[in-house]
Amino acid sequence: MYSEKVMDHFTNPRNVGEIDDASGVGTVGNAKCGDIMKVYLKIEDGVVKDAKFKTFGCGAAVATSSMATELVKGKTIKEALDVTNKAVMEALDGLPPIKVHCSCLAEEALHAALWDYAQKEGIVIEGLKEPVNDIGEHEEILEEDY
Ligand code: FES
Repeated sequence: MYSEKVMDHFTNPRNVGEIDDASGVGTVGNAKCGDIMKVYLKIEDGVVKDAKFKTFGCGAAVATSSMATELVKGKTIKEALDVTNKAVMEALDGLPPIKVHCSCLAEEALHAALWDYAQKEGIVIEGLKEPVNDIGEHEEILEEDY
């Protein structure tokens, strides 16, 4: 049911933890399943130097947070925006359809952390929309082009 990569990132998640002096922090939940994800980003000179996460959620949420944080490290802000839930799922060799919403949580938490960074810096990140706090209310919209 789950790919080897999903199992690997679930049993041995990368980048678990917090960043004390994070440039941006994003927290997103899904009231439908009760899962919550928090993403911390350290951004210097427009580049994501470090990314960490804490996820109180299912195995797919843990695996997608782990992969999403791996994918954004070393990327520019613009490139980090391209780390969508589809990109994360592809990097994990797919997720069962019923678990697609878990990858949306990772994308939204990442965007929320970038949004927080932009707010603190007083900048506008082109293409970044204000994140939602509860993806459960927006799931259909987030998943519609999957
Ligand atoms: Fe809620 Fe996976 S079941 S994030």
